[in-house]
Amino acid sequence: MNIAVVGTGYVGLVTGTCFAETGNEVVCIDVDADKVQRMQQGEVPIYEPGLKTLFDRNTRQNRLQFTTSLEEGIKDAEVIFLALPTPPNGDGSADLSYILKVAAQLADLITDYTVIVDKSTVPVGTADQVHDTLASKISPELFDVVSNPEFLREGVAVDDFLKPERVIIGTESQRARNIMERLYKPFVRQGNPIYFMDVRSAEMTKYAANSFLATKITFMNDIANLCERVGANVDQVRIGIGSDSRIGKRFLFPGVGYGGSCFPKDVEALVRTGQDYDYDLRILQSVIEVNNRQKRILADKLVQYLGEDLCNKTIGIWGLAFKPNTDDIREAPALYIIQELLDRHATIKAYDPEAMENIRTRFGDQVHLVSDAYEAVIDVDALLIITEWSVFRTPNFEVMKSLMKQPIIFDGRNLYETDYMAKKGFYYESIGREVVDGG
Ligand code: UDX
Repeated sequence: MNIAVVGTGYVGLVTGTCFAETGNEVVCIDVDADKVQRMQQGEVPIYEPGLKTLFDRNTRQNRLQFTTSLEEGIKDAEVIFLALPTPPNGDGSADLSYILKVAAQLADLITDYTVIVDKSTVPVGTADQVHDTLASKISPELFDVVSNPEFLREGVAVDDFLKPERVIIGTESQRARNIMERLYKPFVRQGNPIYFMDVRSAEMTKYAANSFLATKITFMNDIANLCERVGANVDQVRIGIGSDSRIGKRFLFPGVGYGGSCFPKDVEALVRTGQDYDYDLRILQSVIEVNNRQKRILADKLVQYLGEDLCNKTIGIWGLAFKPNTDDIREAPALYIIQELLDRHATIKAYDPEAMENIRTRFGDQVHLVSDAYEAVIDVDALLIITEWSVFRTPNFEVMKSLMKQPIIFDGRNLYETDYMAKKGFYYESIGREVVDGG
């Protein structure tokens, strides 16, 4: 099938590459000429495990191509995916201007029947707006607008795309449904379902899924904070409740709050949709508040222990990305923690396997970025662990102790056993567990 993907961010590029992998002819379109040129020369502009291999294979075969011209890119396309940004407006609602602008341009270009797919996370009613934009210029016979939300996790996006647990397709048109089914069949051969539903339910499914997951994490963070106060261990509680299949084991890890490009934006946008329809989504409003508090919890613990003024202190940081296996720092808890430490005049040494360039762009030389985990603890008064990269899981604690000024660790991801850390001679605070002082 001939496919066009408009927008080559995380979602667009993964979508385009994976559709090429199943033999489709894919053209990716982006307004960023520099980025398009780099991709034409074989460079993958984002870090996403597994993507480079697929990208190389399919560009070599010319099944995956890039252009800045919408007209050229959609020329033969039977299906056009819109994977454009929907950044939050000041009031939390999603900015649809990119999507609607492209929809208006498409109206001038489409001559044969085409399926237009909203792939970006867009508020309920967007597909109808895209439909109306097109229908104001061309016959509705010439197109259908489908909602096909993505459920890709950064870091495992390629795997999530190639083997989705489910595919959601929102359309009321049988013709569009058949085309979308043909496109996705190769990805669900193991028997996972493609759910067809009406457009608005598909749009709502995406927001409900992300908001539910954000709520699940936030609930655990709240329980963890209470565990600390009542003397319980949240890791035991997590295992205890997770074994109930109605709750499930996954997504119950307490930490420093959720971040990333999706959860914060999507929860805000759903609350906003509620307001638009005169409905107070109170649970989600609390989720936002509790998560904002949680993002600062590691800095709060540090200040409580070392004092308000950090002007003569050096603090090490392990992990800057909002989660492991990505270089993405959007809404990362590390940003809030770093700002708090800078405001208190601390010196910061930080290490992350992938995200340091992005932090450099954001903070310049205010943060000393170092080339490995051990270098980040040299002469530090304390170490903060913010992201659970695998490389931090079994460090040599003897070496760390010899390098640190004081053996103090604030662990936002519960990487180590508390007893073990006490035995190793560390002062160790984590999330929702007892504080130990082995010093
Ligand atoms: C998420 C959704 O999972 C995905 O389906 C959607 O399409 C996009 O948003 P992503 O943003 O890549 O994906 O990250 P995810 O792995 O879901 O983690 C989100 C945040 O929750 C991270 O900040 C992570 O650290 C945090 N988290 C996750 C926890 O704190 N505890 C957990 O148990 C799980």
